[in-house]
Amino acid sequence: MEKSLILIKPNAVQRGLIGEIIARFERKALHVTGLKMIQLDDALLNEHYAHLRERSFFTILKESMMVAPVVAMCVEGLDAVETVRMMVGATNSRKALPGTIRGDFSMSGEQNVIHASDSVENALIEVKRFFNEGELFEYQSAVTSFEYGGEEKARM
Ligand code: PPS
Repeated sequence: MEKSLILIKPNAVQRGLIGEIIARFERKALHVTGLKMIQLDDALLNEHYAHLRERSFFTILKESMMVAPVVAMCVEGLDAVETVRMMVGATNSRKALPGTIRGDFSMSGEQNVIHASDSVENALIEVKRFFNEGELFEYQSAVTSFEYGGEEKARM
């Protein structure tokens, strides 16, 4: 099953949004298979944001990710990466559509509440970056037949 990595950012932790954000993914019928609070450090962020190291906001972004813990989640579902990105909304929260997480919970492009993997390839790397073996769980959902149709289940 496709996995996506989600980080509930320190600004969302500080604002008491952890539960609301997790609830959105659960209500969507994405399955939570990994969940933990973690204090990020410079080394991990240098790796995670390596593609942004030349950007003017690189240091600001890293500092904003270390001011409090994050909540790291792995969610699974059919086309999970694309589905999660649609639920998250545009990077600049002021431009994110109402109904998306950033659109509903933030006014900022910097303090934008949540990170989500942007491709299937990166999701594989990011899930491994944030979860060790033994921290991810495989379990049979009791309600899959009520969440997906037959053709969809054949793709899973
Ligand atoms: S960009 O500008 O096209 O690279 O934007 P994007 O790929 O959507 O964003 C990559 C991550 O950089 C964060 N970002 C910023 N942080 C702080 N300040 C500014 N100005 C800024 N612009 C973009 C953005 O939130 C993305 O972080 P993650 O953790 O991946 O959501």
